[in-house]
Amino acid sequence: MDENRVDIRQAPYKLPTDVKEMDRLGIQHTIWSLMIGGLFPISVNDKVHHLLNVGASQATVLDVGCGSAIWAIGMANMFTNARVVGLDLNTQTFSDAPENFSFIQGDLSYTLPEFTGQADIVHCRCVAQHVKDPQALVRMLADVLRPGGLLLLADGDWIVYDKHRKLVEPFKWWESSTSMGKPMLHEGDARGRSWYAGWLDFFGNLTRSKDYRQIEELVKNVETLNILHSRRYLSPINWPGEGIENGEALGKVLNVNQRYFFFGAKEIALKAGLSQQMIEIWGRHYEEEVDSGHFYNVWHYLTAQK
Ligand SMILES: C[S@@+](CC[C@H](N)C(=O)[O-])C[C@H]1O[C@@H](n2cnc3c(N)ncnc32)[C@H](O)[C@@H]1O
Repeated sequence: MDENRVDIRQAPYKLPTDVKEMDRLGIQHTIWSLMIGGLFPISVNDKVHHLLNVGASQATVLDVGCGSAIWAIGMANMFTNARVVGLDLNTQTFSDAPENFSFIQGDLSYTLPEFTGQADIVHCRCVAQHVKDPQALVRMLADVLRPGGLLLLADGDWIVYDKHRKLVEPFKWWESSTSMGKPMLHEGDARGRSWYAGWLDFFGNLTRSKDYRQIEELVKNVETLNILHSRRYLSPINWPGEGIENGEALGKVLNVNQRYFFFGAKEIALKAGLSQQMIEIWGRHYEEEVDSGHFYNVWHYLTAQK
């Protein structure tokens, strides 16, 4: 790597990258679309159309850490005159991609600088917490935008709220008596704390960079970016929530997503020291809570202009 480049990668990326995980990201894409009202929030609708439909030269959209590229392909289909580029460490089969979509495989530390000052829109969803240096990533996102370009930055949170929107206390396996000397989970281990919130907390601690900050804070530290909107979204799981737009649909999709998520995270849990039997016990409690509880998951979405 040349000296001027910042190495943002935290090797290796810890979530799975198989077809099942791409399916889950497809479900998660539906969740985002239901929450924000489409591929981007209505509040930037005019800006997006202006940036992508106006101008003599072809507009460029970058989807940074695109995964299955479900968002990028959606944009390429919607804005057929724009060039939409997906960037990711891992390649997938992009079977239904239109011609104005292309993909570049590689670490963002290397692939992003090639686009300095070229992008009209940069989208980066659920990536910042997985890289070693999230602040450097956000600076690089600003660098690739043209002046006037738009940043669409999104991330999930690992906290859980109850139906009164109060924080649910997670069961912390590693703090429990069973974690070290007695490697087994017992029914009473959670002591009134949530196994569901505990799984998310456990997983967040395993995968999130120590230097991660909320996306709003990361963007505020970049002088060239002006925040247009920054919003927290709540998604109900297995119930419609209260006062939540598209709550009915979200509740159903979240129920499916969270089940996928538990099983997708199993490999990582095994590597972190949980036994198969412990995972089965945790999984049973997790499902019981998701089926009977009234939880919300928390997400963050921000738009900014250079
Ligand atoms: C949770 S997925 C999100 C995928 C997609 N943005 C979405 O919302 O559906 C995170 C993606 O970031 C990619 N990623 C993580 N670190 C990366 C890096 N240093 N360089 C390139 N891609 C990276 C992963 O390979 C993965 O596809």
